[in-house]
Amino acid sequence: MKTLKIKGITLNTPIIQGGMGVGVSLYPLAKAVAKEGGLGVISSACLDRIVSKRIGKRVNIYEAVLNEVSEAKKEGGFVGINIMVALMRDYKDSVIAAIDAKTDAIISGAGLPLALPSIYKPGDTALIPIVSSARALDIICKRWQKAGYRPDAVVLEGPLAGGHLGFSVEQIDNQDYSLEKLLPPVKELAMKNGDFPVIVAGGIYSNSDIKKFLKMGADGVQMGTRFLATYESSADELYKQAVLKATKNDILVAVKPGSPCGLPFRVLKDSPMFVSAQKALRKPKCNKGYVLTKDEKGNYTVCPAKVDNVNYFCICNGLLSSAGYNPTEEEPLYTVGTNAYRIDKILSVKELMDELCHPNQPD
Ligand SMILES: Cc1cc2nc3c(=O)[nH]c(=O)nc-3n(C[C@H](O)[C@H](O)[C@H](O)COP(=O)(O)O)c2cc1C
Repeated sequence: MKTLKIKGITLNTPIIQGGMGVGVSLYPLAKAVAKEGGLGVISSACLDRIVSKRIGKRVNIYEAVLNEVSEAKKEGGFVGINIMVALMRDYKDSVIAAIDAKTDAIISGAGLPLALPSIYKPGDTALIPIVSSARALDIICKRWQKAGYRPDAVVLEGPLAGGHLGFSVEQIDNQDYSLEKLLPPVKELAMKNGDFPVIVAGGIYSNSDIKKFLKMGADGVQMGTRFLATYESSADELYKQAVLKATKNDILVAVKPGSPCGLPFRVLKDSPMFVSAQKALRKPKCNKGYVLTKDEKGNYTVCPAKVDNVNYFCICNGLLSSAGYNPTEEEPLYTVGTNAYRIDKILSVKELMDELCHPNQPD
């Protein structure tokens, strides 16, 4: 399989493991992917809590990112970090820490990362926005140009992905918004703006999917759900078992109640927190404060899930629970991509990477 060059690094395989928050893609997964020649990606979401618990000492987000990146890089290879714009409270500190830690790439979506190149001089760290359209990429390129920067690559995430989706509910099932249709204009724009790599994501499952998109002009792929179902992912055992059991009809897009980030969010419909949220059983509560909204004056306010349990579920507590953090106090919330129902076995990262890179594997 061809290599993928991003800024100063060359990946032996054009596979990026998608950042999976909260607590799913931590250093064990990223390290294993990096070792196999892909880009291993940790998620910065709630990392202060996760690392504090692991090392038995309270650390802030800056220290947590430094710690996680250095663990992930211990055995060599290339490591990135996924930092979501929607997690406004920690965004800046996470970016600064990632650059100080000499992370190979910052991959940033769940909102438009317009300020990313202006926060801190990136040095050798590649800055990679996640977009869902050529229009979004165009806005980013124009804004970044003002800061004297152009994206080092872009992740184009289509509507079949896990986690938050950059599409309206109507667009999600509309073939005009399929990854295949979104790719050509994004590729054209990337070529016009200095020919940076385009990495496609969302629903990519097999070696033949990868080959198909590379043939269409993509330079690499980002995959989340397949890596969720590996031994090295830090999702808890019940989460992995729920993925193995899932059928096609078990996977849906939650809107109301939905994510306090305000974007459609794909879930396993039987995830305990989602079931309770539909009946407004859990009282509105947020004791984490990672997701903030801005009031009319631009000041940060509380997470909407703190005051409203009809429109929102508490994403941080739900996702932390599904990574084993507060399972007795909070119900888990499981997010997956549309192809999760095809997974019937937990694999090691090595087995998965072999399957994905091997040209003769059956789908
Ligand atoms: C469990 C899970 C958690 C995710 N968390 C994040 C996240 O924190 N930030 C983000 O930008 N994308 C997140 N994603 C999206 C993935 O990084 C990836 O782009 C997407 O899942 C690709 O689609 P696929 O799952 O069909 O391969 C998540 C996906 C999954 C399955």
